[in-house]
Amino acid sequence: MKVAVLGAGPAGLYFAISMKRRNPAHEITVFERNRPDDTFGWGVVLSAETLDNLAANDAVSAAWIREYFAYWDDIAVVHKGVRTVSTGHGFCGIGRKRLLLLLQRRARDLGIELVFESEIADPRPFMASHDLVIGADGLNSHSRATFAEVFKPDIDVRKCKFVWLGTRQKFDDAFTFIFEETEHGWVWAHAYQFEPETATFIVECSEQTWAAWGFADMTREQSIAACERIFARHLGGQRLMSNAGHLRGSAWINFPRVLCERWSHKNLALLGDASASAHFSIGSGTKLALESAVALADYLHSEPNLEAAFDKYESARRTEVLRLQSAARNSLEWFEDVERYLDLDPVQFNYSLLTRSQRISHENLRLRDPEWLGGAEAWFQSRSGNTDNVRRAPMFAPFQLRDLKLKNRVVVSPMAQYKAVDGCPTDWHFAHYAERAKGGAGLVYIEMTCVSPEGRITPGCTGFYAPEHQIAWKRLVDFVHAETEAKICAQIGHSGAKGSTQLGWHQADAPLPGGNWPVMAASAVGWSPANQVPRAMDRADMARVLGQFVTSAEMAARCGFDMLEIHAAHGYLLSSFITPLTNHRTDDYGGSLQNRLRYPLEVFHAVRAVWPAHKPISMRISANDWVGEEGVTPAESVEIARLLQTAGVDICDVSAGQTSIRAHPVYGRMFQTTFSDRIRNETGMATMAVGNIYEPDHVNSILLAGRADLVCLARPHLADPYWTLHAAVQLGDRDVKWPDPYLAGRDQLYRLAERNATMGLKV
Ligand SMILES: Cc1cc2nc3c(=O)[nH]c(=O)nc-3n(C[C@H](O)[C@H](O)[C@H](O)COP(=O)(O)OP(=O)(O)OC[C@H]3O[C@@H](n4cnc5c(N)ncnc54)[C@H](O)[C@@H]3O)c2cc1C
Ligand SMILES: Cc1cc2nc3c(=O)[nH]c(=O)nc-3n(C[C@H](O)[C@H](O)[C@H](O)COP(=O)(O)O)c2cc1C
Repeated sequence: MKVAVLGAGPAGLYFAISMKRRNPAHEITVFERNRPDDTFGWGVVLSAETLDNLAANDAVSAAWIREYFAYWDDIAVVHKGVRTVSTGHGFCGIGRKRLLLLLQRRARDLGIELVFESEIADPRPFMASHDLVIGADGLNSHSRATFAEVFKPDIDVRKCKFVWLGTRQKFDDAFTFIFEETEHGWVWAHAYQFEPETATFIVECSEQTWAAWGFADMTREQSIAACERIFARHLGGQRLMSNAGHLRGSAWINFPRVLCERWSHKNLALLGDASASAHFSIGSGTKLALESAVALADYLHSEPNLEAAFDKYESARRTEVLRLQSAARNSLEWFEDVERYLDLDPVQFNYSLLTRSQRISHENLRLRDPEWLGGAEAWFQSRSGNTDNVRRAPMFAPFQLRDLKLKNRVVVSPMAQYKAVDGCPTDWHFAHYAERAKGGAGLVYIEMTCVSPEGRITPGCTGFYAPEHQIAWKRLVDFVHAETEAKICAQIGHSGAKGSTQLGWHQADAPLPGGNWPVMAASAVGWSPANQVPRAMDRADMARVLGQFVTSAEMAARCGFDMLEIHAAHGYLLSSFITPLTNHRTDDYGGSLQNRLRYPLEVFHAVRAVWPAHKPISMRISANDWVGEEGVTPAESVEIARLLQTAGVDICDVSAGQTSIRAHPVYGRMFQTTFSDRIRNETGMATMAVGNIYEPDHVNSILLAGRADLVCLARPHLADPYWTLHAAVQLGDRDVKWPDPYLAGRDQLYRLAERNATMGLKV
């Protein structure tokens, strides 16, 4: 095959090598605009595992690369003048120039022709004269641009500015992150040694800080001098150096996240950064490029024709690329938002940084550096007021709100059971909630309990509007207090436009087949075309419903509930006031956020006045309508939280969505936790996170990273009322209290877990 490779970066060179290794008869030419040794950049990070994969593809070049590998195990974080080191991370790095020179040598040895100083602006002539053309021309690929309408690139230019520098200062003991506060804002560096004499030193900051420093108008020399001043304390008198001769001006850039809908067209395939990029903070760009090069060469030899080979290449590599890009996005967003975390204690800041990509979990950190993690856990426990046994996982740390003391941070999230009769909880509710209270969670919620018959979502929803409701709920609360250590929270709400609908396991949110009751909401906006159009509430309606909230809160207080939550999320009545999607009012209760929150806050103040002063009140909000700027955005939810905080709400239960049928939620593990993180760290308000959190590892990492104060699990508690007790067994924690009659079961479970652990099995 006659092959033209456009670009002699890691992707292009390694592809050429991999092709030639599979069939020496291929006639391969690599075209590169630069000279052989004037590459930009300093060191790149790979892993020992990546190199093992490369050795299977070409042992010769892998052995050469290995010879020059710099290894380091530690990550040091310098923040607020404190240097914290954790170990067990296992990286290796090599100079980018060294890597390219080795690959060039190997390519030449194999008979590949390398043509330097040859700028290729258009791949089409090569497509006509060659059997196969590889667009490996990097982030700003001309190959990709030429066929943009086919490849459909999605280029997301990220917020931070960075410059890739080098230094002779030694960073050979650890991959080092340095955060420096300057007169114009925070600036940070990612520093790592890649050769005995040289380290990479990437300097990064927000666009605002960059503008305030005037980096845009500086020459390269001025820019470097400014960075040297900022990091003087860490450079030991060494200079910073640039080798980005190909970039104009001061060489600062914004990282472009590249993803293409397609990677091939006719006989042209995109490879490496030209097809997909991964942010440097997870150090995987070169790995992706090299591994994709191997995969493409493989398929070109296993498949009958180019089309089939390209199909396989795209489907096989896309999953891996998306996986890495997702981790890279978490990581780069953490750096973009880092100013949110800089006030954290250095221990928590460090933990937050290490777990930023969500690829490293709590237990994974324990494997890497048990001592460091143990210290961080002890810090968390002591800060939570636990002085007895500080070597416990964060989920088992106590938490206090007003006089409410929770024994741990796990919460059974509110979940409607749809089993009530005329609003009255039944034996089902007693059995269901009693079981969850025995299951070890610190706090158990009852479902949204409605303030009036019309305020119910379905005919099966529970209420707080009749004397028999109070009797039934009190029986449960008394049991929980007498027999368990759990605390119990009542969630009160009104369904608004989403009322008069079917039971959850019928057609959720769909109108009842017959006998609908009239509904009302902030404005006359129906939930869906199939639902009733609600009456827009007038002031009399608002006063009446406010009174119903107060009566319900009084009832909950008489039952002895430990905490109260006002449901202002998920499109129900109070939520319909908050989101502009359903609040079209032109009076004092519509328009600005202040106005949209006026009624929910009036309800809160009225409820607060009758709720015992020593007991806390929470509000649940939808922190994202998932419809873009038209609805509540995560940024606006921070303002919502600020208003709740100012009003005296003790904790914000941060949910999201269910406010519009037009929503496009982005699901994933812990997908709503980011909203809680933002609110907690931007306002200082206590938060609860919820949404697809299902493993002890998730709970522990959310807590220790300071992303929430409490963690709610809903569906996991439907599947397992004893979720917390079982998590303790999994973590080997024996300080949880089991109900006395169940002690024999507890002992057996711990024994089995120990036996399984010695046999290498999971509990
Ligand atoms: C600051 C920074 C730090 C990074 N750190 C790491 C790291 O630690 N680990 C890691 O794995 N990755 C890292 N990367 C990413 C890594 O550099 C790239 O992902 C990797 O180089 C991709 O290889 P490539 O061959 O696709 O692209 P490139 O390395 O960009 O190679 C493309 C080549 O094509 C040439 N070219 C471009 N246009 C033309 C043209 N018109 N005609 C001829 N030739 C052309 C270029 O000169 C270049 O040599 C980092 C990137 C940056 C920006
Ligand atoms: C069956 C069921 C009923 C629910 N009922 C309520 C409710 O009454 N009030 C509420 O605020 N959220 C309710 N939710 C939402 C949950 O509290 C939680 O926010 C959501 O399920 C995401 O958490 P998970 O991924 O742990 O399930 C309900 C969820 C389920 C699955």
